[in-house]
Amino acid sequence: MKVAVIGGGSSYTPELLDGFIERERSLGLREVVLHDIAPERLGPVAGFCRRMARHRGAEFRIVDTLDLDEALAGAAFVVTQIRVGGQEARHRDEARGLRLGIVGQETTGEGGFAKAIRTIPVVLDLARQVRERAPGAWVINFTNPSGIVTEALLRFGRVPTVGLCNVPAEMKMETAAALGVPPEAVELDYVGLNHLGWVRRILVHGEDITDRVLGAFRGGRGPKNVPEVDYGPDFFEALPMIPSPYLRYYYATDEVLRELQAAPKTRAQVVMEIEEALFAYYRDPATVEKPALLSERGGAWYSRVALDVIEGLLSPRPRREVVNTLNRGAVPQVPDDAVVEVRADLSSHGVVPVGGGPLPEEILGLMRQVKAYERLTIEAAITRSRGKALAALLANPLVRTLDKARAVLEDLIACGDFVPAE
Ligand code: G6P
Repeated sequence: MKVAVIGGGSSYTPELLDGFIERERSLGLREVVLHDIAPERLGPVAGFCRRMARHRGAEFRIVDTLDLDEALAGAAFVVTQIRVGGQEARHRDEARGLRLGIVGQETTGEGGFAKAIRTIPVVLDLARQVRERAPGAWVINFTNPSGIVTEALLRFGRVPTVGLCNVPAEMKMETAAALGVPPEAVELDYVGLNHLGWVRRILVHGEDITDRVLGAFRGGRGPKNVPEVDYGPDFFEALPMIPSPYLRYYYATDEVLRELQAAPKTRAQVVMEIEEALFAYYRDPATVEKPALLSERGGAWYSRVALDVIEGLLSPRPRREVVNTLNRGAVPQVPDDAVVEVRADLSSHGVVPVGGGPLPEEILGLMRQVKAYERLTIEAAITRSRGKALAALLANPLVRTLDKARAVLEDLIACGDFVPAE
């Protein structure tokens, strides 16, 4: 089996390779191709991955290439993890947000919109090439904003896609650790959109223990890149669910903004510094172990999530994971062709989302509002319509007002991230 990793020059890639090395036999893995458009990133990452694989006795080939056709040809899985515009564009988005007093995080607020606008045309072009070069291949999408990009790929790219995020896995691992049980014993009844999800129920060995856990929950630690918030017990009385750490941007917008505005650097600047050290490590011909510094990035468990899903898609027996997939009735109040982040049964027969009943009023409004924003964003990216782009920003609850929406749009046009068609 061949796997192509698009955006293989990411400093995260060794994390993914670590998972491939562990499971090469169970997957029947023959070749991993790392593709990137930036040779100065791809070379050191691929060199390090080869050293790490050799050190661990792995037998599959690791190929690196700048040629997309070569990377895709005959692949069974195409992992997409690209960042259009690099960390510089991420910094621009975050700085604009801070200037305008809007959350500019890379997946939420105006930052998520900007990233989606830059990324959707690129991934749709990639989808066309996947259809030609690797017909039938599964696209495993990590490219952010993952839910929006996955919906664009499924509805308009016409390639079988599963959208992934490390956050549901991280919530599961933290829950298991807090309860002192193995992760396999825990099932989270998770519902929402990417970075806008809630755990409705926690099942341990099939038993519902949600009430016991909620009493002790204060807000959780969450990924390295998301500010911490202590919600307090009244929050959990009002909303008896565990929110994804990314919901802090919505439930504690002012607090999080104040914290981000007071910080000496944007997250993009922090990541650029971490990356400098990571690339120095990858370039050192003596290094063979996955660097501890990788844990300073936000993507904990990303390798495990990817491998669990790939294993599921290869297996005749269904395996339940939280993924981004077409709704198809799983959440009755959301369109069937909208991508939602829910539990799904994955097997060689495909992906079947698991329904959990209607959404309660407490989360229904926000979920539908953000879904409308996401769909308008996809339309804006494809049509390059200024009107749709403005409508998308107005529908985003973290942007919302006309002055702010206009200011974001003007800035995106001025820096060339959005080129209106009319
Ligand atoms: C989390 C999110 C990812 C995001 C990452 C950013 O894991 O779920 O969507 O890409 O953090 O991490 P970084 O280290 O780049 O800030």
